[in-house]
Amino acid sequence: MAEFTISVIFVSLLFSLSSLTVESEGNINSCDLFDGIWVYDESYPLYESSDCDFIEKQFDCSNNGRPDNFYLKYSWQPSACKLPRFHGEDFLERMRGKSIMFVGDSLSLNQWQSLTCMLHKSVPQSQYTDDRTGLLSTFTFPEYDVKVVMSRNVFLVDVVDENGGRVLKLDSIQAGQFWKQFDVLIFDSWHWWLHAGRRQPWDFIQEGNKTYKDMDRLVAYEKALKTWTNWVDSNVDPSKTKVFFQGVSPDHMDGKEWGEVRAKSCANEERPLEGHKKYPGGSHPTELVVERVLKEMSNPNLVYLLNITTFSQLRKDGHPSVYGHGGHRGMDCTHWCLPGVPDTWNQLLYAALVYQNYHYLI
Ligand SMILES: *[C@@H]1O[C@H](CO)[C@@H](O)[C@H](O)[C@H]1NC(C)=O
Ligand SMILES: *[C@@H]1O[C@H](CO)[C@@H](O)[C@H](O)[C@H]1NC(C)=O
Repeated sequence: MAEFTISVIFVSLLFSLSSLTVESEGNINSCDLFDGIWVYDESYPLYESSDCDFIEKQFDCSNNGRPDNFYLKYSWQPSACKLPRFHGEDFLERMRGKSIMFVGDSLSLNQWQSLTCMLHKSVPQSQYTDDRTGLLSTFTFPEYDVKVVMSRNVFLVDVVDENGGRVLKLDSIQAGQFWKQFDVLIFDSWHWWLHAGRRQPWDFIQEGNKTYKDMDRLVAYEKALKTWTNWVDSNVDPSKTKVFFQGVSPDHMDGKEWGEVRAKSCANEERPLEGHKKYPGGSHPTELVVERVLKEMSNPNLVYLLNITTFSQLRKDGHPSVYGHGGHRGMDCTHWCLPGVPDTWNQLLYAALVYQNYHYLI
């Protein structure tokens, strides 16, 4: 009798262990990680800014004086599965001997900085190096032989100084030669396509033999993205390199979008759009473009879209507002506080690499 009871307990223990595995890993393979809601979660954030003393001042909101902290305590809950908790040591072990590079603008920098903080927090005793030279920032974990690099390249396509001025070449990617040596590449581009006047770092746009003084920016963006996907199609060997596109990160400059007609910025926003699945202000203008260009690839499986746009739209509370740029130099409703929303982007990157169809790399 006693023996029977013990084996029943044993069997049910086994059963519950295996159903646990199924719950946290099994269906994550097919789950849409980007469809879900934000929920308040006491166990967040994943690190404190004091755990990460190399954090860029522009993202270090709490040290810059941001007084509220609800925004630190939200976790992303996909509808169809549970997002695995980030396990930095596991990530570093799996990436041993490999290199990851973010390529893009300051939103890429935001995600790069988040990942370096999350990894350092996981192995605080392990040495690191943090080198910032020109447009390249390189963070290494020598014990694991892992490099996490950020390459600033805001358009992905080239800007070339020529006699007549600075030319934005929609059909040319010279940096590609450098990208090829990396094992994981995460690209982003959008915000600089909107810059005009003094913040616009080019004088002409060129496509083929045609030169233009200007062009509809969304059209130019689509052409450049197409050049980029063509580069991926003809240069990336998926058994060596995994390519991600960090979907466009949304701004929160206009309260009408989220139902606060008087709000002219993200100032004083302390809560996300809780329980929402869709942004009241509608989808982002770039979403259809990104989707279309990726679908038109000869091998669309070469790029994994980190589809962060919609769920980041729900985080009107996540921006530095006046607690960016080292204090009070303007209102920043574009970047994100760290700890904060980009930590979730990296959890999704981790889930995609480890649990979804990218697991054969690492
Ligand atoms: C991205 O996620 C949103 C929200 O779940 C969804 O509506 C959209 O179709 C997704 N885009 C792609 C390309 O999967
Ligand atoms: C562009 O110009 C080059 C030389 O100036 C010429 O050989 C080529 O045919 C032109 N291409 C197109 C698409 O017009």
